[in-house]
Amino acid sequence: MINLKPNVRSFFKQIFTVKKIRLLFTFLATVVSIPLLIVAVQSQQPTTVKVLIQALEAKQLEPIVNDFNREKPNINLEIVEAPNDTNQVEDLYTSAFLLGESPYDLVYMDIVWTPKFAAAGWLKDLSDRVSQEELDQFLDGDVNGGKYKGELYRMPFRSDGGMLYYRTDWLEKAGYEPPETFSELIEISQTLQDQNYTEWGYVWQGKQYEGLSAMFVEILEGFDAFWVDPETLEVGLDQPNAIEAVNFLKSTMEKGVSPPGVTTYSEEPTRRLFQNGETAFLRNWPYVYGLASESDIAGDFAIKPMPHAPQGTSGACQGGWGMGIAKSTNHPEAAWEVVKYFSKAETQKKYALKTGYVPSRRKLFNDPELVEKYSYLPELLNVIENAVLRPPIAQYSQASDILQRYLSAAISGTMTPEEAMKAAAKETRTLLKRSR
Ligand code: GLC
Repeated sequence: MINLKPNVRSFFKQIFTVKKIRLLFTFLATVVSIPLLIVAVQSQQPTTVKVLIQALEAKQLEPIVNDFNREKPNINLEIVEAPNDTNQVEDLYTSAFLLGESPYDLVYMDIVWTPKFAAAGWLKDLSDRVSQEELDQFLDGDVNGGKYKGELYRMPFRSDGGMLYYRTDWLEKAGYEPPETFSELIEISQTLQDQNYTEWGYVWQGKQYEGLSAMFVEILEGFDAFWVDPETLEVGLDQPNAIEAVNFLKSTMEKGVSPPGVTTYSEEPTRRLFQNGETAFLRNWPYVYGLASESDIAGDFAIKPMPHAPQGTSGACQGGWGMGIAKSTNHPEAAWEVVKYFSKAETQKKYALKTGYVPSRRKLFNDPELVEKYSYLPELLNVIENAVLRPPIAQYSQASDILQRYLSAAISGTMTPEEAMKAAAKETRTLLKRSR
């Protein structure tokens, strides 16, 4: 027999010198510790949550976002900027969710998106996270605007309601009280234009987009007309009062009170005209108050509820924005921290004081500091609590598209108001029947 033992021993001796064993241990230790280190480093890194927000507001929200990130060092809230028109932001969210792999953990939502986004299954149900007692602190319209089939998908952040802005200095000099009716609005405008106070009398949002529908529900209310009754799904667009409402809008341009370009304006261009002293009256949301207060017309303007026709009442469209959580997020708890932070009274107050946006918590409308800066807030509470809703139906965005298309055709003169409203009503009825 051959004795292999001495050979084996020398073989192992050659391979496992002390130096090599040390090297091997170092190598193994490194291999094991790298992933552990990565995990350790990662767990110290804040969780990033992203939300898409229209550019103007993304800037205004910066201080709030910075505060949040400072107070919650384990979360990094990141805002991605979107265009200013609500439809464009909605389209960006919609395509992100349709394509899957949405980069957004949170959804900063216009009140009218809730039924569509919730029905599509893009949002987490927040109902179990908020008590009724907590919800009671917010305006009813804002809470209801965040619900779909009884469940809550959006926590209110800021409320909104359409109002009439007017130049107090010019009205005073010309000896007028602010207008209560549409005819007074036209009459005062024409006088101020004739007396060379201003180039234009009244400016509103006539572009074919969501803002057109929002503005129009106020005119409809002013003429005691309606769009869609959410209970019965009856469509009122082709009724005589609704056609009269379109005629009124058209007449503002025909009488030279509104510029012909009004059919292409969204909120921002109309705000600029008002701030530049080119119009006496403006229909817009309360956000204009804060910005105009820092412009040349500071101290020379005020806001009041919209005028109306003899048969109708002042209409303020219920607008507003809130936060939802994307169903697809991997960080629902971090996202919820953001939602909670935005809905806190302290955050809302701070944001309102800085920007003039309207809070969604009822109590803040009578907060002494806020009222000192925005004296109209207590009255606005009453206006918003009686605001007109755009129909809260799952097919809202299609219904609004139909209205925008035909209303735009009517005010820009490619169809008569009667033809346009009849066609809009017919198409809306077909849409509602199809989805019943
Ligand atoms: C405002 C309102 C919103 C509305 C939009 C229309 O942002 O808050 O509800 O849809 O204007 O442009």
